Amino acid sequence: MPLVTKTISEVREQVAAARRAGRTIGLVPTMGALHEGHLSLMRRAREECGLVVVSIFVNPTQFVAGEDLERYPRDLPGDLRRCDEVGVDVVFAPEAEEMYPPGDSTWVEVTGTLVEGMCAPHRPGHFRGVTTVCARLFNIVGPDRAYFGEKDYQQLKIIERMAADLKFPLAIVPIPTVREPDGLAMSSRNVYLSSEERKAAAALHRGLRAGEEAFAQGERNAAEIVRAARRVIEAEPGVRLQYLELRDAETLEAVERVARPAVLALAAFVGRARLIDNVVIGGADRQCRG
Ligand code: PAF
Repeated sequence: MPLVTKTISEVREQVAAARRAGRTIGLVPTMGALHEGHLSLMRRAREECGLVVVSIFVNPTQFVAGEDLERYPRDLPGDLRRCDEVGVDVVFAPEAEEMYPPGDSTWVEVTGTLVEGMCAPHRPGHFRGVTTVCARLFNIVGPDRAYFGEKDYQQLKIIERMAADLKFPLAIVPIPTVREPDGLAMSSRNVYLSSEERKAAAALHRGLRAGEEAFAQGERNAAEIVRAARRVIEAEPGVRLQYLELRDAETLEAVERVARPAVLALAAFVGRARLIDNVVIGGADRQCRG
């Protein structure tokens, strides 16, 4: 079993001991309810690092009012079993007061094109909460490598920017999305889906594939690619799209024509679950199936 701790001081002791022994440090930040997607991050960290730290913290600052903070799935015993299977060394599972003690008043926020579209306008303050907690985790753990899933594509790009701008001496390692056999991206929020909704949710990836297919057939006009994806998704009555956008894969600026790798990204409600997904078109295919 991994060592489980709630305190910053104990994580730091473990990391310091590993550093003295010449081991590299890997961090996998999570909010728990671990699934195959998280496990692929953890396995990669296990392959590449001498000490693997997984943080499990449902970060309140990244939930917008009215979102699912209270009912977000929590399963620490199950998570610890999964961490054990992968050979994680340390699980850092702090209480909110450990991360945000009374009087705490510092935020870390990325600005510019990365936070102009996609999820940002629909979840005001969300990415500020993500960058604030990740900057703290980077300072607490001091990893050489930190692992993030490509399913949360905008989050990944924002964290890369934050780590570069704040000169954190670490590598951000992106890990491909893990999918169910019908293409649905693995997500902790998939547990909210009834069996009917679960079937409907497969339309999200089918739609993204239709956009990819339009590109593969030679379409370069962004509006046409989005239309091809939208047609498939909107044919499924159980899905309510929040956005479907094609953006530059690095800057996340809106594109009119695809001349460089671009990300076709969406958020949609299926029942009460808000799900996100994306595919990168015009780049290497890095999606994999669970
Ligand atoms: O992707 C997540 O699970 C969270 O946004 C993260 C990166 C752990 C920060 O709370």
